[in-house]
Amino acid sequence: MKRTFVLALGAAALGLGAAALPAQAAGKLTYYCSAQEDWCQLMARSFEEATGIDVNMTRKSSGETYAQVRAEASNPKGDVWWGGTGDPHLQAAEEGLTEPYVSPMRGELNDWAISQASSADDKTIGIYSGALGYGYNEDLLKANNLPVPACWKDLLKPEYKGHVQMANPNSSGTAYTTLATIVQLFGEDEGFEFMKGLHKNINQYTKSGSAPIKAAGRGENTIGIVFMHDAVKQAVAGFPIKVVAPCEGTGYEIGSMSIIKGARNLENAKKFYDWALSKEAQTLALQVKAYQVPSNKASETSPKAPDLSSIKLIDYDFNKYGSSEERKRLLKKWDDEVSTLPQ
Ligand code: F6P
Repeated sequence: MKRTFVLALGAAALGLGAAALPAQAAGKLTYYCSAQEDWCQLMARSFEEATGIDVNMTRKSSGETYAQVRAEASNPKGDVWWGGTGDPHLQAAEEGLTEPYVSPMRGELNDWAISQASSADDKTIGIYSGALGYGYNEDLLKANNLPVPACWKDLLKPEYKGHVQMANPNSSGTAYTTLATIVQLFGEDEGFEFMKGLHKNINQYTKSGSAPIKAAGRGENTIGIVFMHDAVKQAVAGFPIKVVAPCEGTGYEIGSMSIIKGARNLENAKKFYDWALSKEAQTLALQVKAYQVPSNKASETSPKAPDLSSIKLIDYDFNKYGSSEERKRLLKKWDDEVSTLPQ
């Protein structure tokens, strides 16, 4: 406060207008990001350059950001939450933690992005989508004489013990999407049996969703259950990673964005929101090799991005699995019945 006042006085004394102090005049934005760190940073810097608004960015996984927004509800600190899987954004919307907003940019978006908004009274919107799957380190697979996996059920084979990694579904949206996908594919009873069987082969539950495939890229893990675009990113970076669309079919995400209820910088949050839906902002993804499908129809998509039309996708029920009751119930059941089992 004091610093702003002194600067303003100084500017007045020098006869400078507001344009001489763009960041001060334009104000600030507290931005919570749940996509990949490099993409989060690029979005923050590019928005600052485009508007002069000072951005304070924090990167946390989808479930963690949801928990933070919830914990701060009586004294909100964040303004906008960009990225991360749609389910926790839907849960936040249902719990009244986010603000309705109808952006003038909507006409430029794919239907799936709008339907995310419609199912949440405009308290969230789709910014990208991508299919779940897994990736494996080809060199490690060969070195360990392991068979090439092609299906979800292949991951239950005893020879993969200690070779599979996924994130914890409480912190990670990727891992929650995995749990919800398996339940939708196989039914709840068989799905939980699958998660228990998989648990025997898991070497570590990471906090962040893409960590298992980064570890595979570095040669520290063999198979990582992740969004396929995150596995493609490692392959494009030159690591010996192969990407698998599981034979039984798979789920997908609608990565989302929401304005936080009680945002202290509401007007700047809306400016970010509109900008983040533009073709220009969404095309930035290619600079950091983020291969999700963008929600703006005019944005460029890399030819390396997984082609969703060629993948067997389930009809993921976002209304059900993004509801507060179902997300809490499934996570508790996983905590009680799977994570506590011996390996
Ligand atoms: O940016 C990569 C990404 O996989 C997104 O597609 C996804 O929304 C997000 O990370 C999920 O991260 P986490 O699983 O850590 O919540």
